[in-house]
Amino acid sequence: MDHRQLLKTLSETFGLSGFEDQVREIIRDMVSPLADDIRTDALGNLIVTLNPGRDFVLMLDAHMDEIGFMVSHIDQEGFLRFTPIGSWDDRLLGALRVTVRNREGRTIPGTVGSTPPHIQDPDEKKAPLKTEDLFIDVGAATAEQIEQMGIRKGDPIVPWGDFLALEGNCLMGKAFDDRAGCAVLIRVLEAFAETPPDFTLAACFSVCEEVGLRGAKTAAFQIQPTVALAVEGTVAADTPGTPDRKIPSRMGKGPAITLADRSILVHPKLARFIEQTAIDAGIPHQIKTPLYGATDAGAIHLAGAGALTGVISIPCRYIHSPNIIMSVEDFDNTIRLVLEVSRRSQRILDRA
Ligand code: CO
Repeated sequence: MDHRQLLKTLSETFGLSGFEDQVREIIRDMVSPLADDIRTDALGNLIVTLNPGRDFVLMLDAHMDEIGFMVSHIDQEGFLRFTPIGSWDDRLLGALRVTVRNREGRTIPGTVGSTPPHIQDPDEKKAPLKTEDLFIDVGAATAEQIEQMGIRKGDPIVPWGDFLALEGNCLMGKAFDDRAGCAVLIRVLEAFAETPPDFTLAACFSVCEEVGLRGAKTAAFQIQPTVALAVEGTVAADTPGTPDRKIPSRMGKGPAITLADRSILVHPKLARFIEQTAIDAGIPHQIKTPLYGATDAGAIHLAGAGALTGVISIPCRYIHSPNIIMSVEDFDNTIRLVLEVSRRSQRILDRA
């Protein structure tokens, strides 16, 4: 499967935090032929191990979940009220198309309803959107029709977001945060299946990152890595109106290396090692501006007695929107950098 097909499949799959089952099944099918051991833990993390049982354990992490909503109430008139899962900018919600998944696993399309400008008074036009006033319309006229569709309170919702290949060698999709990271891990596992590592490699496809780094916490406790890398989609804000000092990363400038974010201060030994590896291998890269964002690395580095943990990210414009844009070159270079750092990872311990 080529990059585009892989990213399309992963991004379009339904996988709200806590409801990652479909994403996990797809990834399991892809990677199980490559694995020496593969298992799903109690929370739903998929842990794929190559060459188990060695002293040196490298953990690679990418989260499967995406942000979305949950049905919180069903109006008599057949409208769904909802509550956000993960961090949303309310201003994006006005005309958002969504997919609701019922308990039988059937997906039902709909849209967040809005008031047409024709009947808004001037104050209304200027007022910010409030999630509590919003509703989803799936085409039902009554609560009974909603029941017939099999939709119930607590059902998960994600934004609608067809994958699109844009001109300029860019891709657009709803869930590159962090399915692009999942795709990187799949490519890295493929490479290591051809040239097996002489250490233990544990790739973890984690659940519930978007609601507080939850899956990675218990996964790292089980894996007890020596060294770990979280592979993420991060904020590219190289767009009009953002001052230089507030741009965490730029699209097209290569994978972003984290020194510090809100969840971790990367050990300088590891941060320098990642940067030096990129330089030695001739891989374009950039340093992510501190201290924006938080990643699974924040949970992983605190597991057990602690693990040297870093973050390598693919710059994503419009992250936490249904229209995330990333560059194919950045994606490729992230695979290269994660692979190079992984191959050399045992040398990190040699450094002072
Ligand atoms: Co993410």
